[in-house]
Amino acid sequence: MRMEEYNYMIKQSVGFLGMGCYIPEKVVTNYDLEKLVDTNNDWIVERTGIKERHIAAPEDATSDLAVRAANLAIADAGLTPEDIDLVIVATETPDTKFPSTACLVQDKIGAKHAAAFDLSAGCSGFVYGAAVASQLIASGLYKHVLVVGAETLSRIMNWKDRNTCVLFGDGAGAAVLGNVDEGYGILAIDLGADGSGGPHLSMPAGGSRKPASHETVDACEHFIHMSGNDVFKFAIKIMARTALHVLEKAGLKKDDIDLLVPHQANIRIIDSAAKRLKLSTDKIMVNVEKYGNTSAASIPIALCEAREEGRLKKDQNVLLVGFGAGLTWASVLVKWHK
Ligand code: UT7
Repeated sequence: MRMEEYNYMIKQSVGFLGMGCYIPEKVVTNYDLEKLVDTNNDWIVERTGIKERHIAAPEDATSDLAVRAANLAIADAGLTPEDIDLVIVATETPDTKFPSTACLVQDKIGAKHAAAFDLSAGCSGFVYGAAVASQLIASGLYKHVLVVGAETLSRIMNWKDRNTCVLFGDGAGAAVLGNVDEGYGILAIDLGADGSGGPHLSMPAGGSRKPASHETVDACEHFIHMSGNDVFKFAIKIMARTALHVLEKAGLKKDDIDLLVPHQANIRIIDSAAKRLKLSTDKIMVNVEKYGNTSAASIPIALCEAREEGRLKKDQNVLLVGFGAGLTWASVLVKWHK
């Protein structure tokens, strides 16, 4: 998209009014996984940076995690659920194929006046959602949009596949977007997709291509299938590229980044992006060691924790960068307003 078109679309300044996250209590360490599959703590830490992950309680589904994060975000924004005009839930692990998890959340939190839909963009989902929300607010259609990234990836993990089961975790993060003072909030957006890479990260069955059957269950096709190395190569390339695009759209340079909040998939991917962007470690939010890859929840959880750690300050340029299933990528550059 050309810069002039982009500026034309942004009619109002839109930022993050409130945030909240929910992390399930149960912790599964690398040592616990050593008992399940042929792996070891050293391999996992060295190759991914992950030490432990949290797993949702058996009675909880994705909407339950999402609701807890959403209620915190709405209260944090100083609003009530009735003030929310739209609920977007970014997830690859909806409670059910339909109704959408966003509709379940809308009902459970009592957002009586809100429209609701789910968004599928893999681990880029929350940033895609924030981008969509910002435009619906900037256009004047809506005032307050709740964007949630929530996942119970443990439910679609093959606990016998060491290539994937050591990587993922459960959690939810939410934000309420709305108008902020002029010059603050989302400065630029870069979204992208390369569907040709879709097979590198997918759940092969359960859709119209391969409906659920005894055969698909026996073939473990309702679990995450991933070619880790292909996704790794894509991630290394795309993270720096999308970050540079969004900076360019905002008329800023690498040096102007105050805090990078990247998708938390693998410390080696984050380090590589940081190196390409010439960012020192104090300018990068990392918590992959505690939660593993929580897909669409990873960036809002990291953003919440960055604030808890006092790392979000007024006037800072905060860069959110995600990549994931699709394959997709998404960057949003935000001038923090409070
Ligand atoms: O959010 C987006 C979703 N996904 C990602 O971001 C994942 C991106 N990819 C990655 O993070 C990395 O590719 C992995 C962490 C998944 C794998 O690291 P890698 O350095 O790319 O390893 P590899 O796949 O090339 O495998 C190296 C070896 C293989 O053994 P051989 O064939 O060399 O004998 C694997 O079988 O490591 C083996 N291996 C393991 N060993 C111990 C794979 N998983 C494990 C494991 N424990 N859990």
